[in-house]
Amino acid sequence: MGALGFLCVTVLLLESARSYRTCPDLIVESCRCAAERSAPRSRQRVRVVCVDVELTDTLPPSFLPNRTVSLNLSNNKIALLRNSSFYGLAALEKLDLRNNLISTVEPGAFRGLLALRRLDLSNNRIGCLSPEMFVGLSRLSKLNLSGNIFSTLTAQLFTHLSALKYLHFGTETLVCDCQLRGLFLWAQHNSIRVGTGTLCAFPTHLHGSEFHRLQEQQLRCDGPLDLPLFQLIPSQRQLVFRGDRLPLQCTASYLDSSVELRWHHNGHPVATQEDMSIFVEETLLHDCCLLTSEVILSNINTVIAGSWECLVTSSRGNTSRIMEIVVVETPATYCPADRVSNNKGDYR
Ligand SMILES: *[C@@H]1O[C@H](CO)[C@@H](O)[C@H](O)[C@H]1NC(C)=O
Ligand SMILES: *[C@@H]1O[C@H](CO)[C@@H](O)[C@H](O)[C@H]1NC(C)=O
Ligand SMILES: *[C@@H]1O[C@H](CO)[C@@H](O)[C@H](O)[C@H]1NC(C)=O
Ligand SMILES: *[C@@H]1O[C@H](CO)[C@@H](O)[C@H](O)[C@H]1NC(C)=O
Repeated sequence: MGALGFLCVTVLLLESARSYRTCPDLIVESCRCAAERSAPRSRQRVRVVCVDVELTDTLPPSFLPNRTVSLNLSNNKIALLRNSSFYGLAALEKLDLRNNLISTVEPGAFRGLLALRRLDLSNNRIGCLSPEMFVGLSRLSKLNLSGNIFSTLTAQLFTHLSALKYLHFGTETLVCDCQLRGLFLWAQHNSIRVGTGTLCAFPTHLHGSEFHRLQEQQLRCDGPLDLPLFQLIPSQRQLVFRGDRLPLQCTASYLDSSVELRWHHNGHPVATQEDMSIFVEETLLHDCCLLTSEVILSNINTVIAGSWECLVTSSRGNTSRIMEIVVVETPATYCPADRVSNNKGDYR
């Protein structure tokens, strides 16, 4: 908690109804407070702004006035929201957490926010979502999940949000396919407005389409496999010496549970072969949305030369990326350094 201190910076910022000023019970350095001037202190509505101050964690709720109605923690470096992170802020109506590094939201993170109406979680790194994240937000009417890293959402996710009216969820990897059908119908039946700016990124023929303008029939899963992310590193032909070590890493979007990664070498399936120093690492799922698999070629010999292919298989079809390895028997001698100095500079 490096950003905590014992001062609240006074900022005089006159607005029509309220002014920013010292907030005696807020003991957080570099946060600003605004209270409505007219009301007696005990009934003042307080707005707290801690924007762009390198916070790596949320503030303990006990550090904030319990009359806080708006809390702005945007543009910080918060990575995790723990269960009950805001417990006690029963008057809070607006919570802005946009532009942080949030990747994990624990079940119950927003417990106790009985009056919360707007929650902005946009531009974070949330890939895993669960209904339990939103437990207790029975008044929430507007939720912004745009700019996170998930590719799909289910309607069940919003089970606890019985007052939800507006939802935003555009991401760079949003896949508008049959998996979003449930959400589409749920939004229709419950009069939830999906915000403009919630654009499909995939499949390619729907790229840039507004989700709320789609027809149900457009959300299909019968097209060719179109992955938001699929890469093999290194991607270019590699020249390696005998005895070298070279890791190959393959990453693909995890669109559904049928997606799997496999390796082929010169057309044959690859498994770990210790005697040949080929190690296939376990496939890992990151943030519920990316699969990675790694092959480590250590102590390289000529047997590993040729094409290396990472294959994605799924119920919707397969796709692959290939790179080539050329093994050089003996290290070539290096050229001696050549140095040229002239009026244009010094070159090596
Ligand atoms: C806020 O805290 C004060 C005492 O610190 C208490 O009297 C009051 O009931 C609390 N208000 C709310 C809304 O919890
Ligand atoms: C929080 O602060 C940012 C940066 O000043 C601003 O853009 C945003 O509108 C504020 N959020 C709320 C809910 O007022
Ligand atoms: C969060 O923590 C509280 C107690 O601190 C516990 O009762 C509750 O079950 C937890 N919530 C979730 C959803 O795990
Ligand atoms: C949702 O968040 C995105 C990214 O921060 C922003 O561009 C958009 O205006 C927000 N939408 C609403 C209605 O707040």
